[in-house]
Order: sequence, then C-alpha cells, then structure tokens
Amino acid sequence: MPEIALTPNSNILITGVTGLIGGEILRCLLDREHQGQIWPLIRATTESPIHRLGVRFARSQDTREIPATVHAVNGDIQKPVWGMSATDAKTIRDTVDVIVHNAADTSFVAHRNTSDTNVKSVRQLIDFAKSCRRNPLVVYMGTASNVGDISGCSVTEEDGCRAENRHYNEYTYSKAIAENLLRESGLPLLTLRPSIVLSADLADETFARQILWCAPLTRVFRALPLNPDARLDLVDVGFVAAMSVRLMEHTNRTYDCYHLSAGKKYAITLGEFGTLINLQYGRRPLKLISPAAWTPADEEKYVRTGVQRRVFRSLHHYLPFLNMDVTYENDRLRQDVGFEDAIPQPVVNYINKLLDIIPTKAAMKEAAVP
Ligand SMILES: NC(=O)c1ccc[n+]([C@@H]2O[C@H](COP(=O)([O-])OP(=O)(O)OC[C@H]3O[C@@H](n4cnc5c(N)ncnc54)[C@H](OP(=O)(O)O)[C@@H]3O)[C@@H](O)[C@H]2O)c1
Repeated sequence: MPEIALTPNSNILITGVTGLIGGEILRCLLDREHQGQIWPLIRATTESPIHRLGVRFARSQDTREIPATVHAVNGDIQKPVWGMSATDAKTIRDTVDVIVHNAADTSFVAHRNTSDTNVKSVRQLIDFAKSCRRNPLVVYMGTASNVGDISGCSVTEEDGCRAENRHYNEYTYSKAIAENLLRESGLPLLTLRPSIVLSADLADETFARQILWCAPLTRVFRALPLNPDARLDLVDVGFVAAMSVRLMEHTNRTYDCYHLSAGKKYAITLGEFGTLINLQYGRRPLKLISPAAWTPADEEKYVRTGVQRRVFRSLHHYLPFLNMDVTYENDRLRQDVGFEDAIPQPVVNYINKLLDIIPTKAAMKEAAVP
C-alpha cells in the first residue's frame, strides 16, 4: 500500500513539462498554490530550460509569472542521473519527496527506437530514486495502451501492462517494459495509465494535431474501413492532469495503479465520432465499413486517386488502433476520487474547437511523416 501522498509542501522533481500532459500537471500544481520546491527537468535546446517552460505555458495561454519555488533544471532522461548537474542532483537527492515522470518518446512510428528513451529513462530513474534520502514517491505516467494488441473488451488495471502481448509499435511495448521495471524496483510507486488524451481546451495547433491529425484527412475519402460500433476511450488533458494530482494527494489510495480513462460508460463510438467530424466539415457522411466487411473491391473503389492512396498508406498504421474497440475500466479512480469527479469532458464539448485549429495542409504534412 502506498505510504506517501503529495502535500502542499512536498518537493517535486517532474519531467515532460514541455509536453502536453506534464505541462498541464505542472500548471495544475501551481493553480493549487503549491508551496514546496518544484524542479521541472527540461532539455536545453538552443533555448534555456526556463525559456522553454515559459513557451510551454504560453501554449496554454498561461501568462502567469513562474513562481520562485520553480527551478527549471537542465537534463536529459536518457543520461545517467538524467543528465543533471552535480549541484542540481545533490540538492534534489537530499530533499525530493515526489518524482513525477511524464517524459517519454511518444512516437507511434514503427521503426523508431522508443525504448532508447522510455526504458533507459526508467532505469536511470530507479537508480536515482534509490539514492534519494527521503525515499520519494515515484509517480509514473504509463499508458493504458501498454496492454498491447487486444480487441473488443474492457480492460482492467490488472489485465493491463502486457509486454508479452503482440504490440503494434515499440512505443506501447517499451511503456510496458518500463512499468514492469518500476514495479520490480520496490520503490514507492503510483502508476497512472491514461487512455487517449486530447488537448481539449488548449488552443495549440501542434497539440491538437498530435492525436487528431488524421481527422481532416478523412475528407478525401467517401468510405474507410472503420467499424462504426468500435468504442474509443478518449479523455481530455484537463481531466488527466486534475485526476493525476488528486491521486497523488490522496492519503489513503486503495491501489498503486489507476486508469485515467472514460471507461465503458463515457467512451464514444467511431460512428458517433464520425458524425461529429461530418458535421464539422459539413461533408457528405463518411461511410464506415467494418474492416471484416471491407473487400479489395472496396479498396479499389474508395482508394483511387494519388492523394487517397498516399493518405490511406499513412492511415494504415492507425486504423487497427481505431478499430480495437477497447475501453479501460476506471472503477478504481471513481472509487478513490469520487464518482462525480472522475468524469472526463464529453468530446462533443471541444472537438469542433480542436478541429478548427488543424489546417488541412498541416495534417497532410503530418500524413507524410506520421
Ligand atoms: N498523449 C496521450 O494520448 C497519452 C496517452 C497515454 C499515456 N501518455 C503518456 O503520458 C506521458 C506524456 O505524454 P504527452 O502526450 O504529454 O507527451 P509529449 O507531448 O510528446 O511530451 C513528451 C515530453 O517528454 C520530453 N522528453 C522526451 N525525451 C526526453 C529526453 N530525452 N529528456 C528530457 N525530456 C524528454 C519532451 O521534451 P522535449 O520538449 O524536449 O521534446 C516532452 O516534454 C508519456 O509518458 C506518455 O507515454 C500519453
């Protein structure tokens, strides 16, 4: 059972804050006027870590002044001691209470070696956390998709994290390996497994495109091999950030692993999602043909032009995901944070705003390098 909970005075090391989820978790902590020290670990590029933090906040239209308790730390999670300077590492090692590890290589591209980041960083994390004085709570941002290739079911936390299953890409596999390493480490651990996270209320084109890049491209087709009854487990990033912080703060968590998901009750079907997209683009309804019923003749009929062939090729990696028809049970979350609060925003509330900010040209570019 977990011994440690986040308090307003906890000192926190947090990674991935320039990304979608980590950035929102940090903003959520600051909204709660967190008093303890916070070290966001950020790669220096041509810009300094502190500058990059400001840029990330601006992407959420957050113009607040970064408080003096937040010390952007230069680091790279692939390196020993996460690439921190000896001085930063010593300060953090002596005083950190909670380590929140969001950073990852989230690419779905088949040939990308995501383990280089996702597994190596966790090995470094284990070594570092074990050397810390206060036996910090490690909060690991996993993914519900680390269950691998399954279909037509509702997955519990117990069913998840299956490195032995077939995986569509190295990303979900590497996330399963990393989570298992952490569990075996014996460190105080809270694992959070979001389902599919949409940037919802954030008016940032790149975040919107991260998951939804293929939506504008469906306009070039009259039909696609998609099962209209397949369920999609989508959640908004505000929900993920809020639930993460609530679980970290919980003094009496029942479990050490939680899905942050819509679950059976609030999942949306591809048919319903398709209707929202049709409405957005004022298009003739896209015909969704179940993959089992999609024939070579359909492919010839509906994938004819050069553009259609090119886009279809890039969609090919994603169609199996969309057709998985899997939801992730969230009874644990509902039980521990409350049934009223553990409800993500309905997709219909924000999908139009998100699609509005994805130009088709940018989506086409993304299709070339998905
Ligand atoms: N988005 C989803 O739908 C989803 C669903 C389930 C689980 N998750 C999990 O949630 C976590 C966050 O996902 P996200 O969507 O927020 O990802 P994201 O937007 O792609 O952000 C990734 C973050 O990781 C950082 N990072 C990557 N490699 C690094 C390195 N070597 N050193 C330091 N930082 C590094 C990136 O920093 P730079 O800015 O320097 O690149 C960035 O801040 C991940 O662990 C992911 O597996 C995401």
